[in-house]
Amino acid sequence: MKFFIAALLTGFSLFASAQNPIAIPDTLSGTSILLRLHADSTAFINGTKTFTNAFNSYSYLGPTLILNKGDFVSLTVENQLMDTSTVHWHGLHVPAVADGGPHTVILPNTSWLAQFTVKNNAATYWYHPHLHMRTGEQAMRGAAGLIIVRDSVESTLNLPRTYGVDDFPIIVQTQQFDSMNQVLWRGMNDSILLVNGTVNPQINLPRQVVRLRLLNASQSRNFNFGFSGNIPFSIIASDGGLLQAPVSTTRIRLSPGERAEILIDLLHYFGQTIYLMSYASEFPMGVHGGPLISGMDSTWDCPLNGVDFNILRIDVVSPTSTAVNSIPSSLVQVTPLLEAFSNETRWITITPQSSTSYEGPFYFNGQSFDMMRIDYTVPLNHIEVWSISNQSMMAHPFHIHDVQFFILDRDGIIPPPQELGFKDDVLLLPNETVRLIMKFEDYSDPAIPYMYHCHILMHEDDGMMGQFLVSSGTGIEEGESSNAISVWPNPVTQNNLKLQLPSLSVGKKCHTEIWNVFGKIISTQEWIVDEQNQELNVSRLDQGTYIIRTEIDGQLLTTKFLKLK
Ligand code: C2O
Ligand code: CU
Ligand code: CU
Repeated sequence: MKFFIAALLTGFSLFASAQNPIAIPDTLSGTSILLRLHADSTAFINGTKTFTNAFNSYSYLGPTLILNKGDFVSLTVENQLMDTSTVHWHGLHVPAVADGGPHTVILPNTSWLAQFTVKNNAATYWYHPHLHMRTGEQAMRGAAGLIIVRDSVESTLNLPRTYGVDDFPIIVQTQQFDSMNQVLWRGMNDSILLVNGTVNPQINLPRQVVRLRLLNASQSRNFNFGFSGNIPFSIIASDGGLLQAPVSTTRIRLSPGERAEILIDLLHYFGQTIYLMSYASEFPMGVHGGPLISGMDSTWDCPLNGVDFNILRIDVVSPTSTAVNSIPSSLVQVTPLLEAFSNETRWITITPQSSTSYEGPFYFNGQSFDMMRIDYTVPLNHIEVWSISNQSMMAHPFHIHDVQFFILDRDGIIPPPQELGFKDDVLLLPNETVRLIMKFEDYSDPAIPYMYHCHILMHEDDGMMGQFLVSSGTGIEEGESSNAISVWPNPVTQNNLKLQLPSLSVGKKCHTEIWNVFGKIISTQEWIVDEQNQELNVSRLDQGTYIIRTEIDGQLLTTKFLKLK
């Protein structure tokens, strides 16, 4: 029955709906880039237009940013939404203050400047909002775009890299619209397929080796990409870099947030029509997009679940004059981190709030996300193993900011070759344990944490997120008390905050700074400590979280407090 309905739908869309040439977003490159986030509307289907979010001249999605490894870049985001937002550079290794997480809000009609040196390898990354509890809503209305990083290693390889000619962005999303054609971002009947924001998309590809940069930018649907007729292709890059060698295959599974670059040799397909597809019937139960979990209520069903469907129509046309006609046999040297060098192991379990639920909310270690709680403080330059154990009936894509990690094993087994490269997002199957290894290098920040979360946006927004600080070791670590300062009352509602300093500090010179969570110093004070309890005037501070850094005798003490009005 299921297959029958899907066949009808596919037939219907082939005959009744015209194919639309796929949109290829323009590129922005250089070291200074301006992104204008604004509200817009787009006609996806007949009838009322859909209210959307977008960047720059687009009415849905945004330009593709091209960054060069080693460049110091300035990315300005102008928020022209009538709403607070943030913009996060998914997969990029940047200072926490430039990462665009939920602590780094951009108020309406203000702009935010993110500056960093591009340290990532050549690969495909992306950007999207990351506002506390509202990432799904803002991103699924269309605030997202691709980032391509280029470097001197990738550029020496004989690979297609002419954007829009033999190298294409393929941003795949599914949407559900309500009866007024508006985005129902939590909708489980997400049967409208968009590629680069185009409905019923079609693309002409030249008869040669072509590179596709696949991004799953869906709210929660997984795709099992392949081509019609099981045409083989080669995976050349994972989330954060080229693989050691192309992996020849007929399928690549991408969960929300994941990317892959693939090469397909179209030499023998001139004049033919083929399809990029999702072979979702091959998904095991519990992988959203696959067959429904037995016993799951039918409101969770969607015509795309558990069936194979077309995503993009490809017509193979004449070759370009500078065609790449072969697939290299090797790519780059990938040196994975070794478990023997790890400094620490952390365990994270994924459980539903109630043991019988497959709907969530889902939590990490039994706790819902809390903006005020730092879950881990990671010493700078630590190499850590994170063992993530999915104790739920549903698959979850686990994403970590700041780092690219390697997958050590899945249930103790070394992953397939396409998962042996740099990753920042990994799908955990139901009841699977995946161990990741990564190094937290280059950037530390005493105040602004990085996020880790499920990239099913509904799960993330419902609390399946945690945060960690990377600490340079000069401040004190969360939970350490030997040289701590404490403050009370906390939260503070009155004018004065009492600060308790270590007893030995009486008579010493002391320098105190109050920082906000955006890393800005709000006030500084120099004093001679005359008693162990000092008072700080906080009457002029706005509501929010602040960090106190106090230096006594060359020793740096930090603590945090919350100001409420
Ligand atoms: Cu793509 Cu924290 O996200
Ligand atoms: Cu991210
Ligand atoms: Cu999840």
